[in-house]
Amino acid sequence: MDQFHIFSPATVANVSCGFDAMGFALETLGDEMIFKKNNTQKVTISEIEGATLPFEPEKNAAGVVAQKMLLDAGADFGVDIRIFKKYKPGSGLGSSAASSSGSAFAVNEFLGKKYSKLELVEFAMLGEEAACGSLIADNVSAALYGGFVLIRSYNPLDIVSVPTPEDLYVTVLHPQIEVKTEDGRKVLPKDVPLKKAVAQWANVGGLISGLHSSDYDLIGRSLEDEIVEPVRKLFIPHFDLVKDSVLKNGALGAGISGSGPSVFALSKGKDQAEIVAETMDEVYKNKGIEYITYVSKIGNQGTRILS
Ligand code: HSE
Repeated sequence: MDQFHIFSPATVANVSCGFDAMGFALETLGDEMIFKKNNTQKVTISEIEGATLPFEPEKNAAGVVAQKMLLDAGADFGVDIRIFKKYKPGSGLGSSAASSSGSAFAVNEFLGKKYSKLELVEFAMLGEEAACGSLIADNVSAALYGGFVLIRSYNPLDIVSVPTPEDLYVTVLHPQIEVKTEDGRKVLPKDVPLKKAVAQWANVGGLISGLHSSDYDLIGRSLEDEIVEPVRKLFIPHFDLVKDSVLKNGALGAGISGSGPSVFALSKGKDQAEIVAETMDEVYKNKGIEYITYVSKIGNQGTRILS
């Protein structure tokens, strides 16, 4: 085939306790992209809908990834990319990761699946670097693998897929303000006191165990972040009120999605996740800030071909 229409999911990175080391994909929210092979030996971006992003391939996350892969593979063809963003960049929902992963996935199809999924993550990370200045793997791994992932090691890259309990849903509040990941990383503490580190890795262990055993309460108890959330929540209007309210109304746990401003909450069951969305709505509706809420099952499939 010389054309692919793909879906690349939105992702929640960090999952509270797992800064840069955990993430998961959404089932329903994500970008669509159309890739067309041609004989120009160049990467072009001919359409971007839903966001203002650079058309120059060397400045665009999807373009950077495609260029690098074609060069690495010594390909004798070019690719044109059309990007249809379904949610805003700077949301904390892995917008650049959806583009980077989509590009890695589609170009690999043109290359006859030359690269492994792990190698695709490495290419997609270059798109993340272009977009936010850091080689982060959490959003792109979640997008490419689907479900929950753990980045056990960055060097060498080691990604572990973690099972998703059948009835786990996420609710996302996306205030329509932009927080650049680059800015969200500038405020991070350089050092972590041992006591906080202990709490953090204990919660990561709890979260992984809860996901494996479908222990929903353990998953909820483990969504604690004593290191990053306290500094980043200052960028998110009414964060504490949203978090307290959703916990009172049945969410298992809640935190900042990636570097924000989106807030995510996990719930057992779709009905409960809808109640959480209503709760978020109650908090935000008269605050003078535009926002969108999403309810989704965890997306086990990840980046995929639509047609
Ligand atoms: N782990 C990254 C961060 C994800 O929190 O900075 C960026 O969305």
